[in-house]
Amino acid sequence: MDYYDFIAKGYDELHREEQSNKLLIIKNNIKINKKIRILDVGCGTGISSGFGCFVVGIDPSIGLLKQNNNKKILGVAENLPFKNYSFDYVVSITSIHNFKNIKKSINEIKRVGKENFVFSVLKNSKRFDFIKNLIEKNFRIIKVVEEEKDSIFFCGLQ
Ligand SMILES: C[S@@+](CC[C@H](N)C(=O)[O-])C[C@H]1O[C@@H](n2cnc3c(N)ncnc32)[C@H](O)[C@@H]1O
Repeated sequence: MDYYDFIAKGYDELHREEQSNKLLIIKNNIKINKKIRILDVGCGTGISSGFGCFVVGIDPSIGLLKQNNNKKILGVAENLPFKNYSFDYVVSITSIHNFKNIKKSINEIKRVGKENFVFSVLKNSKRFDFIKNLIEKNFRIIKVVEEEKDSIFFCGLQ
């Protein structure tokens, strides 16, 4: 069983507070209205999907998705089942360090996004520097907000 399926039932109790704080920081730094379409890559139980507009999440953990009452799809970042330029924002909150193929996932995220991207990246991940370099190579960095555990990259297309 995958780690996230194993901890699925206790995920919200363990992580709701810290993940909600990251979501609040992101919401305070982007412009949201009812017409905006957001993709949440690695949505888990959906804590990170609470933007108050159209949001669809994607995640490979059946256990976490069972706890998720939002719009969601079972799948992986490496192969996003959406057409090019489908979303106004693509966000990924504390998930990217888990992706098997981060380069491929970033290419997919760029493909389905239009202009705006937000990556909240776990600072103590062994892959943090690799991820940061890839983000800097692939996107125009608008702002970086340092949260307690994550660096939050607000990005546009280059
Ligand atoms: C720390 S959780 C974050 C979940 C959610 N974003 C939140 O803020 O609560 C990391 C998530 O990454 C997901 N994940 C792992 N591998 C993935 C992949 N290849 N594509 C998309 N999501 C993946 C896990 O299933 C898990 O839901």
